[in-house]
Amino acid sequence: MPSNFIAKGAEGYDAVMGRWSRRLAAPFLDFSGVPSGGRVLDAGCGTGSLTVALAAHLDLAAIDATDFEEDFVAALRKRTTDPRISAQKGDVCALPYGDGEFDGVYSLLVLHFVSDPHQAVREMRRVLRPGGTAAATVWAYGGLPSWRLFWDAILALEPEAAGKASPLAKRPMTGEGELRAAFEGAGFANVADSALTISMDYDNFDDFWYPMIYGQGTIGSFFDGLPQTRRDQLRDAARKAYLGDDSDGPRAFATVAVAVRATA
Ligand SMILES: C[S@@+](CC[C@H](N)C(=O)[O-])C[C@H]1O[C@@H](n2cnc3c(N)ncnc32)[C@H](O)[C@@H]1O
Repeated sequence: MPSNFIAKGAEGYDAVMGRWSRRLAAPFLDFSGVPSGGRVLDAGCGTGSLTVALAAHLDLAAIDATDFEEDFVAALRKRTTDPRISAQKGDVCALPYGDGEFDGVYSLLVLHFVSDPHQAVREMRRVLRPGGTAAATVWAYGGLPSWRLFWDAILALEPEAAGKASPLAKRPMTGEGELRAAFEGAGFANVADSALTISMDYDNFDDFWYPMIYGQGTIGSFFDGLPQTRRDQLRDAARKAYLGDDSDGPRAFATVAVAVRATA
C-alpha cells in the first residue's frame, strides 16, 4: 500500500482538507517558483487544489496531475475544463511518466502520507529535465493546531486513542530539516527550505466539527469506530475546547507547513 492517507470521497476531502490546501497552494507556488512555459506535474494532486493554482499560470503549456485515489482524480477532471490539464491515477513512488518530461514537479501535502517518501522524491527528480524545479510541502511536526484541539479532547476521554492520534505522531518528512535532507539525498541542487503559514479560519463550532467527523483522514476513521454516546461526549469536550471562555463564533488557527524547493 503506497498511500497512508485514509480517503472517503472527494466531497469530504474538500470539506476537511481541500479548503486549506487551496489556501496553501498560492504561497507554496510563490515560494517554489513556476517556469514560464513548459510542462509541469502535480504529484499527489488529490482533488486538484494545486493543479488549479498552477493553471492560473497561463503561460504553462501543459499541466499533468496524478494521485493514488481514483475518486480524487475523477473529481479533479470534473472540476476543470482547462485543456492543458491531464489527470490520471498513479503512484508517486513509480510515477507514470518518462524521464526528464517536466519543467517543474510539485507536491502539496503528500510526502508525509507516502509509504516510501524518499522513493517519491527520487521519482520527482527522475521525471524532471536537468535544471527543472521540484518543490514539496508538508504540515510541520506537531500537526495542525485546530486538529490538535480535537485530538487533545480525544486523548483526555479515550485512552485507547493513544498511538492513533496521528497528527501528534511524527509523520515522515515533518521533522526539522527532514524534507530538505530528502531532497539533498536524492541528488538535487540549490535546495532551499522555508516555513509557510496559513490561517485556518472557522465560522463557528459546527464549521469546525462537521467536516472533521465526516470520515476523512485519521480523525474521521477513528470517530467512525466509536459508539454514539462516546461521540456525543467527545463533541461536548471539543466544543468546550473550541469555545474557551467565549461564545460560539469565528476562530482562526495559525498553521505552519515546511516547504522545500530544489533544482534537478
Ligand atoms: C492530504 S492529501 C493532499 C492532496 C492535494 N495535493 C491537496 O493538497 O489537496 C494527500 C494525498 O496524497 C495522496 N497519496 C498518498 N500516497 C500516494 C502515492 N503513493 N501515490 C499517489 N498519491 C498518493 C492521497 O491519495 C491524497 O490525495
